[in-house]
Amino acid sequence: MLHPAPGERDLATLLDIAGVAVEPGSRVLEIGCGVGRLTRGLAAKAGEVIALDVSAEMLARARDHNEELDNVTWLLGDGSTLAGVETRASTRAFPTWCSSTSPIRR
Ligand SMILES: C[S@@+](CC[C@H](N)C(=O)[O-])C[C@H]1O[C@@H](n2cnc3c(N)ncnc32)[C@H](O)[C@@H]1O
Repeated sequence: MLHPAPGERDLATLLDIAGVAVEPGSRVLEIGCGVGRLTRGLAAKAGEVIALDVSAEMLARARDHNEELDNVTWLLGDGSTLAGVETRASTRAFPTWCSSTSPIRR
């Protein structure tokens, strides 16, 4: 049996804990995308992903690692204020900045 990549597994766990599903065609804001580990799974499920990170270096790596993702906008910004981030009523926001460093508990 094939095991999902760690990013896919962690995304599934986060969505499960939050009790939300990413609808096909939806617009998602990921806050704290890092190198895009979870962004890949979000991009596969959603119609459009805005992947936000406060670190220009992380965003540069994310772009490099995920060149093939054509429905992702990589955006430099602060997830605390969301200054300059265009959100709409339909935008689903997922803070993922703690996902790889904090143990996930049920
Ligand atoms: C532990 S990494 C997690 C990255 C990714 N979500 C993952 O699971 O692999 C945390 C990320 O959150 C970003 N971050 C921290 N504070 C932030 C803030 N205020 N606004 C946006 N991003 C932030 C960091 O730059 C870092 O890339």
